[in-house]
Amino acid sequence: MCSYPLPRGIAAQNGLHPLLEAGRIVVEPMYESDLDAVIEQEHTLYEFPWGRQHFSDSLAAGYAAWVVRLDGALAGYAVVMAVLDEAHLLNLSVVKAAQGCGLGRFLLDWLLRRARDRGGRQMFLEVRPSNSVALALYESCGFTSVGRRPAYYPARDGREDGIVMLCSLAA
Ligand SMILES: CC(C)(COP(=O)(O)OP(=O)(O)OC[C@H]1O[C@@H](n2cnc3c(N)ncnc32)[C@H](O)[C@@H]1OP(=O)(O)O)[C@@H](O)C(=O)NCCC(=O)NCCS
Repeated sequence: MCSYPLPRGIAAQNGLHPLLEAGRIVVEPMYESDLDAVIEQEHTLYEFPWGRQHFSDSLAAGYAAWVVRLDGALAGYAVVMAVLDEAHLLNLSVVKAAQGCGLGRFLLDWLLRRARDRGGRQMFLEVRPSNSVALALYESCGFTSVGRRPAYYPARDGREDGIVMLCSLAA
């Protein structure tokens, strides 16, 4: 549910997002100093959250890790691993109070544009088949299912497959 006073469907289509232009949304690199807040959100968003080590290791490895602030407050975050011309989206999260406002689409568009601008040719990700909101977002942003990793995720009653999705970044 979107608790921010934002209209639904504020997707960034071309150029800058209106809220970005207005300076209300800021995308900044994630630092160790962000991790307390990020991990707190991670635990409210996922039944099987990333631990601090996941984020610390990602930062230490030089992965592109971002926080999104809306009016100064943490509203989302993402981690992308890039190898040569391939990007792998490892984490995409929008805090509960900001979900459904268009921020997930904004952040994914921003990440795709950034990867493309840096010479990326494709972006991969894995998603749970049960995560219908994320699946809908990814499909509407141009990702298609290209495979399945059996028992990829922990689940309450055992394991859950991961759907592998690919988005071509060719212009
Ligand atoms: C998945 C997630 C990143 C989406 O971000 P969001 O800001 O809530 O999504 P947006 O408002 O940008 O909506 C994007 C699309 O998602 C889908 N969506 C969003 N909320 C939805 C809902 N309540 N029900 C169904 N679909 C929904 C729609 O397709 C929507 O497009 P539309 O607005 O054109 O209809 C966010 O919900 C989240 O962080 N969830 C928990 C963590 C998670 O599952 N991350 C992904 C792991 S693979």
